[in-house]
Amino acid sequence: MENLGEAGGGFLIINLQTGKMVVSTDSQRSKETLRVIICGRVEGSRRMSNYHFLFDSKAALDKLPFSIEKNTDQPDSSTISDTAYHCFLTEKRRYIVTDAPDYECTQDLVTVASAAHLAVIFIDASKGICSETLHYSRIAALMGIQHLVLVIINKMGRVSYDEATFNTMVSDFLALTSSLEFPNLQAIPISCKESDNVLSINNNASWYKGPSLLDYLDTINISDNYERSAFRMQVRSVNQLDKHTREIGGQIIAGFIRTAETIRILPAGKQTYVKGMLIGLDEVDTAYTGDRVALTLVDEVNVTRGDVLVAADRPPEIADQFEANLLWMNKHSLVPGRQYLMKLACKEVTAIVTHIKYQKDMDTGAHLAANTLELNETARVNLSTSAPLVFERYGANRALGSFIVLDKLTQETVGVGMIDFALRRASNIHWQALELNKAARAEKKHQSPKCVWFTGLSGSGKSTIANLLEKRLHQENKHTYLLDGDNVRHGLNRDLGFTEADRVENIRRIAEVAKLMVDAGLIVLVSFISPFRSERRMARELFVEGEFIEVFVDTALDECERRDVKGLYAKARKGDLKNFTGIDSPYESPESPEVHIQTTDLPLENVIDPILKLLK
Ligand code: ADX
Repeated sequence: MENLGEAGGGFLIINLQTGKMVVSTDSQRSKETLRVIICGRVEGSRRMSNYHFLFDSKAALDKLPFSIEKNTDQPDSSTISDTAYHCFLTEKRRYIVTDAPDYECTQDLVTVASAAHLAVIFIDASKGICSETLHYSRIAALMGIQHLVLVIINKMGRVSYDEATFNTMVSDFLALTSSLEFPNLQAIPISCKESDNVLSINNNASWYKGPSLLDYLDTINISDNYERSAFRMQVRSVNQLDKHTREIGGQIIAGFIRTAETIRILPAGKQTYVKGMLIGLDEVDTAYTGDRVALTLVDEVNVTRGDVLVAADRPPEIADQFEANLLWMNKHSLVPGRQYLMKLACKEVTAIVTHIKYQKDMDTGAHLAANTLELNETARVNLSTSAPLVFERYGANRALGSFIVLDKLTQETVGVGMIDFALRRASNIHWQALELNKAARAEKKHQSPKCVWFTGLSGSGKSTIANLLEKRLHQENKHTYLLDGDNVRHGLNRDLGFTEADRVENIRRIAEVAKLMVDAGLIVLVSFISPFRSERRMARELFVEGEFIEVFVDTALDECERRDVKGLYAKARKGDLKNFTGIDSPYESPESPEVHIQTTDLPLENVIDPILKLLK
């Protein structure tokens, strides 16, 4: 999630009395920032944003002790559409207030919530707690929001500050959300018309002895205050200014930095000093969390987009295996073993969920066993990434602890996650360099190693054709091996069935085995249904250009069913065999295979010719 914790960048302050623009001063920028998300709506506020409803009404404005900042700089992330950020300063704090996106837009909601310290949840006193209230509370809990304020809005004239109504609502809420374990909860009765108890306490509810909303916000202790923590900056761009100077652009996601301070560039680990810093066109000595800066370094070290600059003496961890909490947001289920894209801060890597430890029931908090994860389900998972990531525990630094998951083919955001800890440090397992390599082994065999990957329905003729090809190659003194689905499923993959998750794992393992065999210098023939594009693509990506030959054995379903050599189609039609490819489990045809074979119109001997041509 690129814009986590970023909502603080590039604000102009407008003095409301004079209408003049004021450049924010160092003392204003260094003020502690409280990010607030306001969830839910009461009827009266339908046409207004919640922010305006609470803090920007006429009555409130007259009493405002603070100036309003106007956000000139929407976070430049594709994941936030038109979420409005509002800012103001009080004596004590700088506030960034965001309206929660609509309840259906889980993805935007999660993005905003992941940056918030505090959630304000509206409850309409005349209606009570509704499903929307609970949805917002669950997301707030999931995203680790420490402080929750229930704003109970009295419809004047209906339940006029009735103490009993207020108390019932609070206890109803507590009962319904007991599994969410909010560490800090405050309920405040307010009046919409008069801004009662918003900025200051009013006597309409004389029984209420708590603080006004603003007093509460001003005094709350932000325990997870990562802005006071060690310096972290994500690198978005690197510009060569002249031969010796590069300008590194990015956003500070934790802590602050002064010129001449020592920093470390991760993951490479090189150390250097900050030479100068710009915010917009202004040169500055200090830059704080949320600032977008362009800085120059003393040494000409290697820096690229996605790197993280950190305080040299307090670096975060680097790892490629994690335990994390994951919220799945796609109607196509999460399948362990399948490759996804994972974006953490500005870094993008390939990732797979290696194991779903348990699914968490959001209502009861119970741990359930799960093989896949469906829309809006959350789980505790183990993840493995293709490259090491600079990260921190989500509780310590949300910007370096949270990530989004994207579908590799469609680029859609399909999930969001929070890292808890690393399962192993990337540095503990090294690639062992071997003296003999693939080229040397292949040379001894007088051949160029290849992976010929046959895909097609059961009964399409894959194995027959692969057999034919292997015999022919053998005659030509080639060194080969044939990996066949039915055979491998008797040994290495005997623990796998035919669910989507099992097939994904089946193909992952066999692709890795084929890769090892190609590394050994062999021509490997793989004959598996391999029904999903995503996994065939994963297999292809394991090999170098030209090494992988995808052969689509394209026999129509009715022809396969007519042949039905093993009698499995008949069984599947009767309902005795579940998840049968082509019947009740999908087959995704290759879009651009190297070889496309239509078995019905060729004598079998000729079909291998185009493959032999490619192997030569
Ligand atoms: S794959 O989908 O995971 O690639 P694989 O090629 O390993 O499948 O195994 C397919 C073989 O398993 C078929 O040729 C068939 O003999 C057998 N089989 C048993 N159950 C099924 C099923 N539900 N769907 C497809 N094939 C099945």
